[in-house]
Amino acid sequence: MDKLSIIGGAPLSGELTVSGAKNSALPILASALLAAQPVRIRNVPRLKDVATMVRLLRTLGAETQGEGGVVQVSCADMRRFRAPYELVKTMRASFLLMGPLLARWGRAEVSLPGGCAIGSRPVDQHLKGFAALGAEIAIDGGYVKARAPNGLVGGRVTFDMATVGGTENLLMAAVLAKGRTVIENAAREPEIADLAQCLIAMGARIAGHGTSIIEVEGVPALDGCDHRIMADRVETGTYLIAAAASRGDVRVRGAQPSTLEAVLQSLVTAGADVETGADWIALDMRGRRPLAVDLETAPYPGFPTDMQAQFLAMNAVAEGESRVTETIFESRFMHVNELARLGAQIALEGNRTAVVRGVAALRGAPVMATDLRASFGLVVGALAARGETVIDRIYHMDRGYERIEEKLGALGADVMRLTAARPARPPA
Ligand code: UD1
Repeated sequence: MDKLSIIGGAPLSGELTVSGAKNSALPILASALLAAQPVRIRNVPRLKDVATMVRLLRTLGAETQGEGGVVQVSCADMRRFRAPYELVKTMRASFLLMGPLLARWGRAEVSLPGGCAIGSRPVDQHLKGFAALGAEIAIDGGYVKARAPNGLVGGRVTFDMATVGGTENLLMAAVLAKGRTVIENAAREPEIADLAQCLIAMGARIAGHGTSIIEVEGVPALDGCDHRIMADRVETGTYLIAAAASRGDVRVRGAQPSTLEAVLQSLVTAGADVETGADWIALDMRGRRPLAVDLETAPYPGFPTDMQAQFLAMNAVAEGESRVTETIFESRFMHVNELARLGAQIALEGNRTAVVRGVAALRGAPVMATDLRASFGLVVGALAARGETVIDRIYHMDRGYERIEEKLGALGADVMRLTAARPARPPA
């Protein structure tokens, strides 16, 4: 199992280009099942999760070319309608295949994703949405089995909470349903708007994406299209936070600043000079230690839960005390105990709030990644720490961050991937 060795203590400095958004690429790859002609998707990040989604599409009978960069998906016909447990358990976003399968073929069997490290993460809202469009749903042997033998029919759905995946799944189901669908209390994440743009390019009729009410007028069939995936806002924010924690000076190219307002505001409060252009963001700490900033995660446009671990790690080396409150997932503080191994002073109040007392310096130590975003929280801590940190189980990180060593290396970080063939750094 690969590990990442980081010798921290130096400011990150330089430029990097952000990858395409994982959380946009996954639903858009799933949406290719809706079109009878080939769908060409550009700016697809080369990630484990993308490879898993491509594998799922092939398992179902789609023809695909590429696993990153440009990916083409052709779904003239389907062989199977079942997404197996073995693949779904490694990636919850596999559940997004349900909407397109149900919409185009009137049947879908997708394994229940089960719990994951950050909480129970049910799919009840997805199922409530499909039922409102007339699907018959049964849960049997760990699989959700859905049928709509005569096709889906538009309906009105009000979600109980803003759910990103639920909104995406229902949107993909509604585009081929007969008549009009209204999704109320829809999530407003930019990745949902990106998916809607792709569906519109296929010929779907959608209005209100990016707001909390989405309206869809179903069409009988969809065409192929060519779509470029938006910039990854989580990756962008992650590198900016890492730069702030290390007192650095970084410019991220290919970014979409409008999708990061809450994070940029928090970084300014932390004392960073932040400048933005049409497609870039520059952050400069001018060598200063960051100031501690309170934050509370919230659905978009609030502070994203996917950047909580990274920001908490920055607070761990900031001047002052801060409260970090997680409102989206119930157990998303597993990085706290690992950061403590680097010398961070963090106390948990229940499972919602972490009280962070910034320390002047962290010290490198062996730590373990527990989930995708938490793992980058450890990278942020390691970059700000003196000495070597070895992060174990970085397969979590490889699911969602492209070319980590290369990107951090370009910013001057001393990072090395340790493998079975090279289990430790060569002696200095
Ligand atoms: C997506 C993102 C993930 C991000 C999360 C929140 C992808 C591939 N993943 O995950 O990176 O952390 O949004 O921004 O885009 N819920 C239910 N029932 C449901 C669905 C959701 O109770 O049927 C709850 C969840 O447990 C959670 C909240 O709603 O507490 C938000 O979850 P949701 O927005 O659906 O997250 P995902 O789409 O899984």
